[in-house]
Amino acid sequence: MKLGINIDHIAVLREAREVNNPNLIDAVSICERAKADQITIHLREDRRHIQDKDVEDIINHSILPINLECAIETSIIEIVSKMQPHRATLVPEKRQEVTTEGGLSIELNNQKLTDAISNLQENEIEVSLFIDPTNDAVSNAKALGVEWIELHTGSYSNIWAMLYSNLPKSNHIVKELNLPRATLKQMLKDELIRIEDAANLAYSLGLKVAAGHGLNYQNTPLIAKIESIEELNIGQTIIARSIFTGLERAILDIKELLR
Ligand code: PXP
Repeated sequence: MKLGINIDHIAVLREAREVNNPNLIDAVSICERAKADQITIHLREDRRHIQDKDVEDIINHSILPINLECAIETSIIEIVSKMQPHRATLVPEKRQEVTTEGGLSIELNNQKLTDAISNLQENEIEVSLFIDPTNDAVSNAKALGVEWIELHTGSYSNIWAMLYSNLPKSNHIVKELNLPRATLKQMLKDELIRIEDAANLAYSLGLKVAAGHGLNYQNTPLIAKIESIEELNIGQTIIARSIFTGLERAILDIKELLR
């Protein structure tokens, strides 16, 4: 199982003071030292954390492949095509959201996606689509000719959080509160099956399969067991732990769980 480290949250801390500290290139070096497999960053339209210059600097300095998440807006796709990361992961983006809520709606965005994918692929960038773990979404992604899909594990993580930790403040996926524990346990099992089925279908269709969102040191092992998933992209929990343990230790701890 490969591990992509999402370092957006380091940029969140930096942007809070508009200084160059913590430095993202230092973070990339630590990810390399800890033997992460990939750096994942999200160039949001509102530039709330990663800036255009960061993307350029990280691509120039990193020996790890760069997975650049971005919206399917023409202006952003143009920038990504020029910067030439190894992979572009197309994600839905809403301005007011705290984080990426749910996967891409392929049916609603078919033409935009077709244009964005061909632009990126012409520039020799692998394309991944961040989708909900459903067989329909997988088949639609396959039809668009992408190399990768990334399955959104946010729903799984939210159900897990309702069962085993405090409810996330913005619980946008599991809307009904105060569900009985037995119901939540069944929901968690069902969601895991949904993820595994979607991953298996994608794998059987020849797609490479990543997963991510809301994964943490407790809920990752069950996802890591799914053999058709090749890579996990994990951010917030690693950066949060790194405040206490340092980034290298936090990465090594999560790598231990992926074994
Ligand atoms: N994968 C994708 C496509 C994402 O948008 C995000 C969040 O930026 C992640 C993975 C990582 O999510 P988290 O920070 O919750 O680990």
